[in-house]
Amino acid sequence: MAKVTVVGAGFVGRTTAVRIAESNLADVCLLDVIEGWPQGLALDIRHSAPVQGIEVSVVGTNDYAESAGSDVVVITAGLPRGPGMSRMDLLEKNAAIVGSVCDQVKVSSPDAVVINVTNPLDEMTFLAAERTGFPKSRVMGMAGILDSARLAANIAEELGVSPMSIKAMTLGSHGEQMVPLPRQATVDGRPLEEMVDAETLERLFVRTRAGGSEIVGLLKKGSAFYAPSAAVAQMCAAILSGDGGILPVCAWVSGEYGIPDVYLGVPARLGRGGVEEIVELELNDDEKARLTEAADAIRTRCADLAAIG
Ligand code: NAI
Ligand code: 2OP
Repeated sequence: MAKVTVVGAGFVGRTTAVRIAESNLADVCLLDVIEGWPQGLALDIRHSAPVQGIEVSVVGTNDYAESAGSDVVVITAGLPRGPGMSRMDLLEKNAAIVGSVCDQVKVSSPDAVVINVTNPLDEMTFLAAERTGFPKSRVMGMAGILDSARLAANIAEELGVSPMSIKAMTLGSHGEQMVPLPRQATVDGRPLEEMVDAETLERLFVRTRAGGSEIVGLLKKGSAFYAPSAAVAQMCAAILSGDGGILPVCAWVSGEYGIPDVYLGVPARLGRGGVEEIVELELNDDEKARLTEAADAIRTRCADLAAIG
């Protein structure tokens, strides 16, 4: 049985652990710095096993020794946003946390594929690759599935149709430089652009870009976790099944789309080795320019991160 360690047993981490356990995808190790907390959550999940049909093992721990030999390590350790905070406000504090997590992951699970979730997403994913020293194909970030799902959900609500009938994708950064792709969005195979006017399209994109903040504003404390954990579980399934699924993720781009070295939201083929291929969609000039702009902004922020040390 494959093994997934989820570091950080907060809202995103524990919900991810439950989703993986309930789908019997892999043994789960839930790890946090708070003593007793991951152990208590894991025990609670195990108590649900007879009802939910969970057959995988679920353990909670404060010790990386118990996570040893994981196939996938999901990093959700760090502070979430509060109302009025941007993801970048989290940079310095979460860099210290993600850095220390990676120092331990590289020793305990040297062959793992790492999925970073902690914000600011693109920059923390870059940091995770630097600090583990793993090949960049084995380190990726979760955002594109979440942002694309939010766009699809917003389109479905606008049109009053099933979310399952929508195909939509966003690329770029998890933040202001998110790049929605109107030409790729379809409703039951029909181009979305034929069904709504430009103003509606723009409204849907603006709401999607601000989807995380909309939830933070409503919750008042903490940020989204149901949709984020669903996205992480889908990435784990694609990696572990090795079925060559293509999903939008934050992956290392090195020349694809004409963009030099940077972590960026792009569609990628996932497998046991992590990112097995960056998939190059045909973009028009405007989409290419916006993707390049997002890449440049992320590269600058990663340089700022390096300056902080
Ligand atoms: P949370 O506050 O509920 O949980 C964070 C957990 O990390 C806490 O249990 C804390 O004890 C733990 N932690 C802190 N330092 C640690 C360390 N050194 N080692 C192990 N565990 C440690 O936060 P939540 O809501 O689970 O969010 C986690 C992170 O994920 C945040 O940075 C948030 O912004 C980000 N996030 C990213 C999303 C994305 O789309 N990429 C979506 C949702 C959240
Ligand atoms: C989100 O988009 C907070 O990044 C997180 O919900």
